[in-house]
Order: sequence, then structure tokens, then C-alpha cells
Amino acid sequence: MGEIAFGLPQWIALILLSLIRQSSGDFPSGVCSSLPMLRALRLADNDISNGFPEDLFNCSFLGELNFSHSGLTGAVPDLSQLQSLHMIDLSNNFFTGEFPISIINLTNLEVVNFNENPGFDLWRLPDTITQLKKLEVLILSTTSMRGEIPPWIGNMTSLIDLELSGNSLVGQIPATIGKLENLQFLELYYNHLSGEIPDELGNLTRLVDLDMSENYLTGRIPEKLCALSGLGVLQLYSNRLTGGVPRELGNSTVLSILSLYGNFLTGELPPDLGRHSKLIVLDVSDNQLSSQLPRDACAGGELLYLLVLDNHFTGELPETYAQCNSLLRFRVSNNKLNGSIPEGIFGLPHAWIIDLGFNRFGGTIAKTIGNAKNLSALFLTHNLLSGALPPEISWATNLVKIDLSHNLLSGPIPSEIASLYKLNQLSLQENKLDSSIPASLSLLKSLNVLNLSNNYLTGEIPDSLCNLLPNSLDFSNNRLSGPVPLPLIKEGLIESVYGNSELCVPFHLNMVKPSLPLCPKPGIRKGLNNVWVIGVCLMFSILAVLLALKRWFGEKNVVIEQDGLPSSPSFVYDVTSFHKLSFDQHEIVEALMENNIVGHGGSGTVYRIALSSGEQVAVKKLWSRATKNPSPNQLYLDKELKTEVETLGSIRHKNIVKLYCCFSSMDYKLLVYEYMPNGNLMDALHNEGSFLDWPTRHRIASGIAQGLAYLHHDLLFPIVHRDIKTSNILLDEDFEPKVADFGIAKVLQARGDRESSASVIIGTYGYLAPEYAYSTKATTKCDVYSFGVVLMELVTGKKPNEPEFGENQDIIHWVSSKMGTKEGAMDAIDKKLSWSPFKEDMIQILRIALRCTCRSPALRPSMNEVVQLLNEVDPSKFDVTGSFKFKHLAGIKG
Ligand SMILES: *[C@@H]1O[C@H](CO)[C@@H](O)[C@H](O)[C@H]1NC(C)=O
Ligand SMILES: *[C@@H]1O[C@H](CO)[C@@H](O)[C@H](O)[C@H]1NC(C)=O
Ligand SMILES: *[C@@H]1O[C@H](CO)[C@@H](O)[C@H](O)[C@H]1NC(C)=O
Ligand SMILES: *[C@@H]1O[C@H](CO)[C@@H](O)[C@H](O)[C@H]1NC(C)=O
Ligand SMILES: *[C@@H]1O[C@H](CO)[C@@H](O)[C@H](O)[C@H]1NC(C)=O
Ligand SMILES: *[C@@H]1O[C@H](CO)[C@@H](O)[C@H](O)[C@H]1NC(C)=O
Ligand SMILES: *[C@@H]1O[C@H](CO)[C@@H](O)[C@H](O)[C@H]1NC(C)=O
Ligand SMILES: *[C@@H]1O[C@H](CO)[C@@H](O)[C@H](O)[C@H]1NC(C)=O
Ligand SMILES: *[C@@H]1O[C@H](CO)[C@@H](O)[C@H](O)[C@H]1NC(C)=O
Repeated sequence: MGEIAFGLPQWIALILLSLIRQSSGDFPSGVCSSLPMLRALRLADNDISNGFPEDLFNCSFLGELNFSHSGLTGAVPDLSQLQSLHMIDLSNNFFTGEFPISIINLTNLEVVNFNENPGFDLWRLPDTITQLKKLEVLILSTTSMRGEIPPWIGNMTSLIDLELSGNSLVGQIPATIGKLENLQFLELYYNHLSGEIPDELGNLTRLVDLDMSENYLTGRIPEKLCALSGLGVLQLYSNRLTGGVPRELGNSTVLSILSLYGNFLTGELPPDLGRHSKLIVLDVSDNQLSSQLPRDACAGGELLYLLVLDNHFTGELPETYAQCNSLLRFRVSNNKLNGSIPEGIFGLPHAWIIDLGFNRFGGTIAKTIGNAKNLSALFLTHNLLSGALPPEISWATNLVKIDLSHNLLSGPIPSEIASLYKLNQLSLQENKLDSSIPASLSLLKSLNVLNLSNNYLTGEIPDSLCNLLPNSLDFSNNRLSGPVPLPLIKEGLIESVYGNSELCVPFHLNMVKPSLPLCPKPGIRKGLNNVWVIGVCLMFSILAVLLALKRWFGEKNVVIEQDGLPSSPSFVYDVTSFHKLSFDQHEIVEALMENNIVGHGGSGTVYRIALSSGEQVAVKKLWSRATKNPSPNQLYLDKELKTEVETLGSIRHKNIVKLYCCFSSMDYKLLVYEYMPNGNLMDALHNEGSFLDWPTRHRIASGIAQGLAYLHHDLLFPIVHRDIKTSNILLDEDFEPKVADFGIAKVLQARGDRESSASVIIGTYGYLAPEYAYSTKATTKCDVYSFGVVLMELVTGKKPNEPEFGENQDIIHWVSSKMGTKEGAMDAIDKKLSWSPFKEDMIQILRIALRCTCRSPALRPSMNEVVQLLNEVDPSKFDVTGSFKFKHLAGIKG
């Protein structure tokens, strides 16, 4: 419950408060008639379901009106009668209709804040706003404003804070803004502004924070602007700026955030940068900057982000960086840096990304890596690093990704690496590693990519490594010997062992090119003494290899069409397999019985089948096109099937459901998937009696995010799933999530690929990104939106649409209305988790969810960023960065 404060005796205030409590969120009727002297209405962070008090205009002495984060909808009433108003804060609501221009008649206004009301009709700032001679704060960000920034804005010299971000503003930044002598905050990011940054901004002697990022600005960064002695935050990222970074910034005593990434800046960074001020963020990635890195960047001891990737920096890493213990992200990849890497860099205690890839670094990987207790990603690829990989790396237990490929590393792969239980990627290819492969690697339960190709590895491929299948494994081009483990062949991964001349296969594989020799004692290996089984396995193996090769050589038709076989009996199947097949189709067909049915989907029936091998599979049966004149619905199902098979068949990721194979006959088609014993996330979250604790929910969130990030960012042609929702997330025996149901997924072949047919209903109500209302363009940001909804469900335990959210309201509105206050946010958390010690983390996740569900797709993070943000939900880390404004975290690349 909010607070009502006014210039009247306290006891009246108390009466009023209790009145409001009783009416559970609604205004008591006649507030203003009974309290005509009311001076302030502060009801921020409440759900006021009945909107403004109906007798508001009887509050004629009202000075403050603060209904921010109140879930208000509809039109803003004409407020021009409330002549005493000096403060209006209606930020973060869902108003629609016309912007209440009438407020410009309220000449006493000092503060106007309509931040984040994206539902207004497009409007322009009228020149009459200059009547507001006392106005100090004007925040109109994300209010659907369009047109140019009018030059007479320079007449509003009382302004201290001017924020017009997130609108559709075009044209140049008027030079007259330089006349706003009191201005401290100028926020114009996320617009379509063009032209040069006027030199006159250098006249804003009180300026503290300037952000004009994400526009189309050209020309140079004015030196006079950079010389402003109070400028603490300068963000101009994602523009088209050229020229140098002014040296004046090196003299600043207050500069803390400098974010200039994504421009065409050249020359060197000011050599003094950070010497006189405490830098927190330095992000100049993706420019054409050269020369040396500033050696004092961390002199203030508070630097969290040092991001200079994708430039032309040369020389060595300053030794001073090795003492920069505050660093969280250290990324200098894609430059021309050389010399050896100072030992302390590897051991930065809080860093969670160390990215030095694509440079010319020599020397070794220091043992100090064992001190990097928070490190999640170590990228050193494409350098000249030599020596052995120190076993101490296994002490950096938070490592998720290690990429040391394309270096000159030699010696053994330390078997201790197996204790890195979070490890997802281990890329050691293109080095000179020369030991045997430690069998312990099979303990890496989270591993998804293991690439050991192009080294000098010897010995056998440990059988146990096949536990890691179906992940991506690559042992090619080494000096390995002995038999190729059978599962590798069965999964069609024979190419992963090519280039090892002493490897052999247990039976003859005709199709393999170059062929591998037969092992000295062909055939029977332990545990496989049944000749029949070998025969079947052999058939399928060869088939699998054939198909793998077929796919490998770029043939597209994965589903073999049926049309040419009109008289085939219905039990004749074409089989397309993508993974190991330890069963045959007859076994499956015979088990398609009523009592094995576990569900009916929109497109078919789902069975759970226990195979004689003891394994369980899920089988989806879809009816084939049976008639000569198929209905549009049948055609659609065919298309859906094809999409599912083509997309899923080519994907291997631990968080994406495995499609083993596809049988197709005259009558129906069968898709055989891995069976997920814990059902779907919707049931696990919302069914009575089921309970997921927070660590499990967080693991589920981050698993889904990794699966989606893989689809969006790791494939040659990104895949958009388009129907992410809790019922499409399946849970395996360890509650590891797997994304399923790719029926309407879309492969983005080229940028801007458009869905031609708008008639197909895509996605699910409650999870659909708002841009679908006016466009059927499939983008990865649509999945990000739906994922945001799933995150909210995970934290709140609520469904996307619940009656309690109110009419036409959904979980997103509900969550954002709660997030304004700590109590509100706490209240949004699933009651089942109320005892949990991780509540701060949960609120942080809700913040991420809100970003994912921004109305504007451009403001949503990418799935890669989401993975990192979820990774970062370690309260201790957030304490450090928590001092930034929200948008500052958004303004960091890498
Ligand atoms: C309105 O209320 C919110 C929540 O109490 C507060 O954060 C905000 O600063 C207030 N607005 C103004 C302009 O004071
Ligand atoms: C304002 O108060 C007067 C008298 O108290 C009442 O007659 C009138 O209806 C009220 N106006 C509104 C808009 O409620
Ligand atoms: C402002 O007040 C004037 C005179 O009272 C009136 O004519 C005008 O329509 C008002 N403007 C707006 C935008 O309400
Ligand atoms: C702004 O100020 C200039 C000069 O003082 C004046 O000529 C002009 O009319 C003003 N414009 C507005 C819209 O107030
Ligand atoms: C503002 O800056 C411009 C260019 O930097 C300069 O020509 C002009 O005289 C300045 N105006 C004032 C009022 O200082
Ligand atoms: C930095 O400050 C020094 C000392 O005040 C001054 O001599 C120098 O010109 C300044 N450099 C720049 C680029 O403004
Ligand atoms: C690093 O590169 C610079 C040229 O950019 C060269 O002068 C220097 O000798 C190189 N240092 C090492 C250690 O290779
Ligand atoms: C990670 O960093 C935080 C501070 O940012 C620190 O308190 C915490 O101990 C670190 N975690 C580990 C495992 O070292
Ligand atoms: C392993 O790395 C090599 C060299 O970088 C690459 O060509 C190959 O595709 C990778 N293997 C897999 C399975 O991704």
C-alpha cells in the first residue's frame, strides 16, 4: 500500500490510509470531495484498478500527483484545472490515447515524468511547452513521441533533466540545447537522430550524464564536450561517429562510464584515461582504434568492465591490468596485441569473462588461473600461447566455456579438468597437445562441445567418452590408435575420428571415405555377443553413416517422400535417423496402443513406449496425407512435420530435445524422441502438488536460455522457435530442460527473411511478442520475448494470463507494476518460495524478464546476453554493479 501525504494534520492522513486499505487497491470514492485541501497524492507502486479518483478536480490545491508504476490504463484525464500542480509523475503505466498536452497550461509545473508509457498515440512536442517556465525535469522517454527535437527547446532554461529516449525522434540535435545552462542530464538514446553532435553542447557546463547512444549520429565527438569538468557518464555507442576519442577525457576527474562501442572511431585512446578519475566502465569495442591500451584505466581501482574488442590495438597488455582486482569482464579479443599475458590477468579474482582471443599473445597460461574463482568463460583462441595447460585450471570451478584452440600448447590435457562440473565447452583443437585423452573427461556431465582435433594426441579413444554423446565431439587429425568406439559409428560421427591413421573399425564400412581399416579381431566386443543384435546394429549403423554422409554432402531431402509407392503395405517405412537407433520400427509400431498414449497434441497422438532394451522413447504419431485432395489442415501438418524433422534432425544440444528418427508410411508418420520422465514445465510449475525449488528453477531458466542461444547464435542459419512456452519445455530425469516442439520453427536463411503466409496462426496467446500484431516477420527477438514470459512464470509461479491480473492485463503488466518497490517485487515471488534465501536473485531474474519483454524488440537483449545475465545472478556480483542506472547495464557490449 502506498502513502498518501498532504499538508493536513496527521490524523486525517491515518483515516485516509485505513480507508484505502479496506478498499483493497481502489480509491475510496470522494477522496477529493472529503479532503479538498489535499496537497499530494502519492500512490506510486500500487495497482489502482479504478483509475484516477472520479472527483480529482475537487482537489484544487493538489501539488503532487505521483501514480508511477500503478498499472493505469486508458486515457489521461485533462488535468489543466489542477492549477497548483508542480509535480506530475505518471511514469510506467499503460496509458493509451492522446498525450495529455493540456498539462502545458499548468504553469507551476517543475517535474513532469511520463517515462515508459509506450501506448500513447504518436505525438509531437508542441512549442507551447515553453510556457512552463519553472520546469526542471522533463522525462518523456518511451512515450511514442515523433518528429524533430524543436530548436526552441533551448528556451526552457530552467531544465535540469531532459530525457526523450526511446522515441521516434528524427533530424538533428538542435544546437540551441547548448543554451540550457542548468542542464545536468541529457538522455536522447534509442531514437533516429542524425547529423553531427553540436559543438554547443560543450556550453552545458553543469552536464553530468549524456547519453545519445543508438542513433545515426555522424561526425566527431566534440572536444569541448569532453572537456566539461562535471561529465561523469558519456555514452554514444551504436552511432556512426568518426574521428578520435578526445584527449580531454584523460584529464577528467569524474568520468566513470565511457561507452562508445559500435562507431567508426580511429586513433588512440587518451593515454591518461582513468588516471585522474575512477572509471567503472570502459567500453570502446567495435571501432577502429589503434596504438596502446591506456595503462591507467584501472588506476581508480573500481573498473568493472574493460571492453575493447574488435579494434586495432597493438603492443602489450599493461602490467597494471594484472592488479585490477575489481574487473568482472575483461575482453580485448580481435586486436593486434602481443607479448606475454601478465600472470595476474589469469587470476583476476572476480572476473567472469577473460577474453583475449584473436591477438598475437605469446608466453604461457599461468598457474594463477587457479585463483579465478568466479571465471565462467576463458577465451584465448587464435594466439601464440605455448607450454602446457596448467592443472590448476581445475580450481577455477565456475568455468563453463574454455576455448584455447589455435595456439601452440603442448603436453597433456590435465585429467583434473574433469572436476570442472559446469564445463559446457572445451575447445583445444589446433594445438600441439601430445598425451592420451584422459578418460575422466566422461565425467563432464554438462559438456556440449569437445573439440580435440588437430593435435598430436595418442592412445585409444576412451569408450567412456561416448557417455557424452550426442554432443559434438571431434577427435580428428591426431595420432590416436585402436578401435573406434561403436557408439561413435552408430551416431554417424565417424568423421569425428578421421585423420588418425592407426584407428580401426570393428566391421567393414564401405561408405566411409577415406576408409578405416578393420581391427585385427573383427566383430565381437564385450557385452555384444548376440549375432542377431550385431546384424541389426550393423544395418542401422551403415544406414546412419549413409545418411550422415548424405547430409554431410549437403543433400537437403531428409524426409523420404511416399508418393511413388501407392500400393506399398502400410508397414513399409522409410527411416530417417539422426541419433543412435537401438530399436527397430516394428517394435515401435506394435507398441502404438491405447494404454501407451500419454497425450494428444494439436497435430497428433503422443505415446510412451518402453523398448525391450529397457530404454523409453516418446513417439508422436502424425497422420499422413492419405487422400488425393488433402485439406489445408493436412497440408499444414505436413509442413509442420517437415519443419520439425528438418530443424531438429540437424541439431545437437543438451537443452534441445533429441529426435532419434522419423518413420513415414502411407498412413502415418512417426517421430521418435527421447522420453522425458518429468513431463513439461507447465505441469511442473502449475500442477497442484508439484514443487520446484529455486536452484532447480534457475537451472531450468539457464538451460532453456542456452538452448535458445544455440539456436539463435551458434548455427549457420539461425533458427527461431516461435512457440516458446512452458508446455513446450520438457524436463528430463534430472530436471534439465529441453526445448521441444519445433513444428512452426523458422530457419532464417538470410537477414530480413520474411514469413510470406500470414494465415498460419503462430505462437501462443500470452507468449506472443507485441510486434506480431502488425508484422509476421520472424525474428530471434520474438523468442526472447516468449522466454521472458517463461522467466516470469518461473519466478512468480503464475500463468501468463490469470484473472487476478485484471481484464486485458497479463503477467508482464502485472510484474512491471510490482517491480517499482522492493515490497511489490517481493510480493510477486511465488508464495511456494517464500522461505527461500534466494529472493534477491529472483528479483534480479524478474528484471531480466522485464528486459526480455520490452515492447520494442531492439531493447530486448539477445539470447547470448540473456545467458550471461542469468549467469551473473550471483547477488555478490550484483551488489557491485547495482549502483548503475538500469539502462547503463543495457549499454554494455560483450
Ligand atoms: C514517485 O514515487 C516513486 C515511488 O515512491 C518515487 O520513486 C518517485 O521518485 C516519485 N516521483 C517523484 C517525481 O518524486
Ligand atoms: C466537488 O465537490 C462538490 C461539493 O463538495 C460537489 O458538489 C461536486 O460534485 C464535486 N465535484 C466532483 C467532480 O466530484
Ligand atoms: C490552455 O488554456 C487556454 C486558456 O485557458 C485554453 O484556451 C487552451 O485550450 C488550453 N490548452 C490546452 C492544451 O488545454
Ligand atoms: C524562444 O526564444 C526566442 C528568443 O528569446 C524567441 O524569439 C522565440 O519566440 C522563443 N520561442 C518559443 C517557442 O518560445
Ligand atoms: C556556445 O558554444 C558555441 C560553439 O562552441 C559558441 O560559438 C558560443 O559562443 C557559445 N555560446 C555561449 C552562450 O556561450
Ligand atoms: C590536461 O590538463 C593539463 C593540466 O591542467 C593541461 O595542461 C592540458 O592541456 C590538458 N589537456 C587537455 C587535452 O585538455
Ligand atoms: C609487439 O608488436 C610491436 C609492434 O606493434 C613490436 O614493436 C614489438 O616488438 C612486439 N613485441 C613482441 C614481444 O613481439
Ligand atoms: C565472486 O566474486 C564475489 C565478489 O564479486 C566474491 O565475493 C565471491 O567470493 C566470488 N566467488 C568466488 C567463488 O570466489
Ligand atoms: C573442431 O575444430 C575444427 C578446427 O577449428 C573445426 O574445423 C571443426 O569443425 C570443429 N569440430 C566440430 C565438431 O565442431
